[in-house]
Amino acid sequence: MLYRSIPSRSKRVSMESNTGNPLVVEFDGERHELLWPPAVPLAVFLKSRGIKVPYACGEGFCGGCIARLTGGNVTMAINEILDDDDLANDLILGCQAVLDGDEPISVRYD
Ligand code: FES
Repeated sequence: MLYRSIPSRSKRVSMESNTGNPLVVEFDGERHELLWPPAVPLAVFLKSRGIKVPYACGEGFCGGCIARLTGGNVTMAINEILDDDDLANDLILGCQAVLDGDEPISVRYD
């Protein structure tokens, strides 16, 4: 799995539900299968679909949105909380994670 900083997420994004990478999310004992559109942060997308994943600052500072990437690649524009060990253990910030590539993605909220 790959994590890489990106300079900006200011470009216009679309949350159309018929485009994007296949995404499987395990949260609160349920499994959700969706299409995740490019350039939309994971937590923002999931909340737009009524999946009430943890979310607090939305700025990459608090760690309130931590999830575990179990498949695929994402990038994070800001990461002020996860250290190298966290990243090596596939932790991501849901408020910052956006698609990187065209592979299917799987995420688990512990
Ligand atoms: S909500 Fe604070 S780091 Fe993601």
